[in-house]
Amino acid sequence: MAKEKQLSPMMQHYLQTKEKYPDAILMYRLGDFYEMFFDDAKTASDFLGLTLTGRDCGLEERAPMCGVPYHAVDLYVRKLIEGGFKVAICEQLSDPKAGKGMVDRDVVRVITSGTVVEDDILEEKKSNYLMSLSAKEGKIGFAWADVSTGEFKLYEYKGENLSEIAEDFLVTVSPAEIIVNAEAKSLFDALNPTVKNTLPKAQLYVEYAYGDAYAEKALQKQLGVQSLEGFECKDKKRAISAAGALLEYVNDTQKRSLSHLSKIVYVRDNSFMFLDANTRRNLELTETIRERKKTGSILWLLDKTKTSMGGRNLRRWVSEPLLDPKLINARLDAVEELTANPQKIEEITEVLAKIHDMERLAGKVAYGTVNPKDCLSMSETLNVLPELKDAFSGLTSKFLTTNVRDVSLHKDVQKLLFAAIDENAPAIVRDGGFIKKGYNRELDGYRSAGTESKIWLTNLEHNEKEATGIKNLKIGYNKVFGYYLEVSKGQTDLVPLRYQRKQTLTTGERYITEELKEIEEKILGAEEKALKLELMLFEGVKNTLFDEVPAFQKTARAIAELDAVVSLASVALKNNYVRPTINSKIKHIKIEGGRHPIVEQLQSDNQFVANDTVLDCSENKTMVITGPNMAGKSTYMRQVAVITLMAHIGSFVPAKSAEISLTDRIFTRVGASDDLISGQSTFMMEMIEVATILNNATENSLLILDEIGRGTSTIDGLSIAWAVIEKINTIGAKTLFATHFHELTELEGVLAGVKNYRILIKEIGGTVVFLHKIVRGGANKSFGIEVAALAGIPSDVVSRAKDIMQKLEEADVGRDTNSIMLGAATKNASKQMSLFEVSEKESEIMGILKDLNMDGTTPLQAFAILMDLKEKAGK
Ligand SMILES: Nc1ncnc2c1ncn2[C@@H]1O[C@H](COP(=O)(O)OP(=O)(O)OP(=O)(O)O)[C@@H](O)[C@H]1O
Ligand SMILES: [Mg+2]
Repeated sequence: MAKEKQLSPMMQHYLQTKEKYPDAILMYRLGDFYEMFFDDAKTASDFLGLTLTGRDCGLEERAPMCGVPYHAVDLYVRKLIEGGFKVAICEQLSDPKAGKGMVDRDVVRVITSGTVVEDDILEEKKSNYLMSLSAKEGKIGFAWADVSTGEFKLYEYKGENLSEIAEDFLVTVSPAEIIVNAEAKSLFDALNPTVKNTLPKAQLYVEYAYGDAYAEKALQKQLGVQSLEGFECKDKKRAISAAGALLEYVNDTQKRSLSHLSKIVYVRDNSFMFLDANTRRNLELTETIRERKKTGSILWLLDKTKTSMGGRNLRRWVSEPLLDPKLINARLDAVEELTANPQKIEEITEVLAKIHDMERLAGKVAYGTVNPKDCLSMSETLNVLPELKDAFSGLTSKFLTTNVRDVSLHKDVQKLLFAAIDENAPAIVRDGGFIKKGYNRELDGYRSAGTESKIWLTNLEHNEKEATGIKNLKIGYNKVFGYYLEVSKGQTDLVPLRYQRKQTLTTGERYITEELKEIEEKILGAEEKALKLELMLFEGVKNTLFDEVPAFQKTARAIAELDAVVSLASVALKNNYVRPTINSKIKHIKIEGGRHPIVEQLQSDNQFVANDTVLDCSENKTMVITGPNMAGKSTYMRQVAVITLMAHIGSFVPAKSAEISLTDRIFTRVGASDDLISGQSTFMMEMIEVATILNNATENSLLILDEIGRGTSTIDGLSIAWAVIEKINTIGAKTLFATHFHELTELEGVLAGVKNYRILIKEIGGTVVFLHKIVRGGANKSFGIEVAALAGIPSDVVSRAKDIMQKLEEADVGRDTNSIMLGAATKNASKQMSLFEVSEKESEIMGILKDLNMDGTTPLQAFAILMDLKEKAGK
């Protein structure tokens, strides 16, 4: 305390403020800088590469300090947010020039990764969600909101596997920031480390905010209702708890009311297909596996949207494939109608390209940060809306007509913005000049007073030149001295007495006269009044916009829907896709001439070989796919998954024809790559994933299992693969199973619904040519060595490998496997296992041995029997 008393008053205030924001970097406004002190200064200077200095603070030691200029603060805030920090912005609330004593300062906002609204921090085509989780008594509630757009959603789940649901939900929504109550924190901590690594840390938030009554009140207040009766989430206590805490957190950090979070959407069970983290990754839904970039992903393939809101919407569509055939077909109808009218697509996209991010602009209006330039963007957008509606005229599918109807023209606002905002308006209001001429007579008056005065100035300059004879006399202006008459050095003798000297320069002198002072007052007075009035008028415009926010949001969402569906249509048209048939009657997946939409794009001159697929619930449940390395097994399996997924998104698919059953989930387990970051063993990971699949798959699921069991010894791996196929067979899920264990082809004819497929290759003079065509039947050779040779393994290693292989084949190492398989398989399918039953010869030998009476056999007889047995056993 004694020490604190020695601190300067400003430092005392700083520390008091900092105490309230222990987990944020406090940026403290001092004049033209935002300063950081003590530990914050050390952290920030290190992270941002700023020079660490010190400031006298009343103590013996100077306080560590670093700072950034106020006009560049956004850049630094952005870096800190991207680095996972929170930033508390402490502003000067009173004018330092006007006031006596200490300047009033307080934190006006805490910026966090889930609450940023700044354009240059946000990604255009990606929503920025803050997510809140609340767990209690076997239930978990989710609430997530995008503060930049006002989207606000809730979901609640009750069941045993809360952790799994939490994981799937988190990867689906992909939030930028997560807050949790204590119980949800334990769930979060127990998540699979690989998945956790891809998510932001879960921050424990104050428990009272999650309290049932407290949260319900907060939500009611936000929605402006007395009760949640009439909302679908009325009984969803956990979802409400999560939402209430989210609102508390937002208010706590943003320190303003966020009126645009005015609508909640409760996500119903089964409203979209859950896709776990692995499946998302393996199917490269929104980013590629290797580089984690959008380019090369399904989202990249399908995203030809022209607006940011459309882009965000399409990302949601891809992330949340639909399960309701009605909704799916509504999109498909729209895509079909559009693809039949290519010139319409062109016309529509041209208009869409002129539309700004209306959704985030509306967010800024609600948030109170809208600037004159934003108003221009809004105005330009509103101006093209009639054109947009026109472009859709004549199209009749329901999806299109409903959304076109939801686009309002906002005529009054459009007129207002057109009348009020100057077409060259700057982003910042500081210097004025954003209200259009003709909008307000008083403002025009001040402005013309200003202009008139400027004419007086020119006259004055002319007159003074004449009166004094100073030829290069000129009138100038600067911020410190105002207007002045400047006379160069050689001419100062001519200056009359009525000139008062103001400033001496190396090149000459600057003066002021009574008359100049008068004009100056008029000019500055008029400018000051004009700016004040402009600001007032702008407030009026902002208020009108504010009232329109809900209407803007509705229009923006409709545009986002239209943009997304038009994007699907143009992709379908360009790449020659077909409409899949998908409805509750279809129970099979039948694809004719299917292609992998991305691999096909990366290949030149239509080299991609199309393939058919038949999967159903009886004869064709499981495809066991064998074939050499590089033949195209993985590509084929993914292609089936991707086509199924695209159909559920409402997109056309790369095939000649496709009938797709409604699929509750797609699971994939592809390859086995070491996960060094999370420190999990490859095989362990593989088994965890397989366990998840076996525990969650249903007969309506689609499973892609690529080389299950390859991460361990051949025998263990083969046994596991075998047992897994048997288990899936009882579940009844449609399955594609690629393997190099050729023994698995024995399952055809043994297990109902298992069919063997192989991928054709041609063998020419010791090397292989890949045909990429899938046909019925099993393969018996992997051609791994040939592929190794193609890959450039040195020829001596290749020929040595061939040697070894030959020896191994001669020694018939495989027999061992067979005998183990016999044990593994008989348990479940003993009576059908004819292929593994011992041969006649073997049973004869066994019979002889069983019947042998050792007591009554002489050594010589024994030797003869042994000779006989050896002969029976053959070579
Ligand atoms: N249908 C196809 N048409 C043309 N090229 C294809 C086709 N399928 C696969 N390919 C090409 O073959 C390459 C190898 O395919 P893929 O990885 O699917 O083989 P694989 O059988 O899974 O091999 P491995 O057994 O080594 O895992 C792909 O990268 C692709 O370029
Ligand atoms: Mg493969």
